[in-house]
Amino acid sequence: MPLFHHKNKKQSDMSLHEGIRLITAVHSKSSISEQFRTLRTNISFMAIDHPIKTLALTSASVSEGKSTVTDNLAVVWAQNGQQVLLVDADLRRPTLHGTFDLDNREGLTTILTSQAKTINLNQIIQPSGINNLSLLTSGPTPPNPAELLNSQRMRDLLAAAKNRYDMVIVDVPPMLEVTDTQVIAHNLDAVVLVIKQGQTQKLGAKRAVELLKLAHANLLGYVMNDVPSDGSAGYGYGYGYGYGYSYGNDGDDK
Ligand SMILES: Nc1ncnc2c1ncn2[C@@H]1O[C@H](COP(=O)(O)OP(=O)(O)OP(=O)(O)O)[C@@H](O)[C@H]1O
Ligand SMILES: [Mg+2]
Repeated sequence: MPLFHHKNKKQSDMSLHEGIRLITAVHSKSSISEQFRTLRTNISFMAIDHPIKTLALTSASVSEGKSTVTDNLAVVWAQNGQQVLLVDADLRRPTLHGTFDLDNREGLTTILTSQAKTINLNQIIQPSGINNLSLLTSGPTPPNPAELLNSQRMRDLLAAAKNRYDMVIVDVPPMLEVTDTQVIAHNLDAVVLVIKQGQTQKLGAKRAVELLKLAHANLLGYVMNDVPSDGSAGYGYGYGYGYGYSYGNDGDDK
């Protein structure tokens, strides 16, 4: 049963079939790539007291740009010279294998359901073709994603990945439809909320923030996705980064 109903749901299945557009890999000098670098820098600045080595971006509902922001952020992090592992933990709408054109017969779910005593990342992690960026695709879709993500094995996997990589960036489902992200949020060093301009409902975003707080997530802030960056209507991409929330006051609508 959905946890929350909202009117403005605009589900897009394009990235499920065609993968994510990696603008940061293709046009690393573009202003959009620059905005992703700014996002990376801002997150790094927030890690001074509490190191951030595991990070997820989530959103209130489907198709708000989580995978797009997550994957492009992982690319700019790797371009900065750090060893990055990008994990597809959206076991319901996985995209990573499609984005990098990889086999997905083995992946995260293979490790989570394995009977082996130790976590062996080596066999399952795949190279991305981008320097410093390694990938763990979702693996076959299980019947019980929330249960798998809430397992001790998932915590062990994150610990092992943290040991081996400078940064582990995790693609996760939206907050309001399923509990998957709630159950892993507190096992991650930080979470950022993606808000899609003109699509995310204020109440939906507010509820997502509440759920993240209930889950004891370290919520750093939000990313505004699809902000027209050149002022022209209809311009596709644009990312802004903000801190804090202003949902308490109706006059402050984002
Ligand atoms: N800033 C943007 N400008 C234009 N198109 C965008 C932007 N961000 C995302 N999209 C497009 O919107 C669609 C959904 O994006 P994406 O798959 O990243 O969202 P998601 O939140 O991961 O979705 P899901 O809930 O399926 O996991 C994709 O087709 C993507 O290319
Ligand atoms: Mg996605």
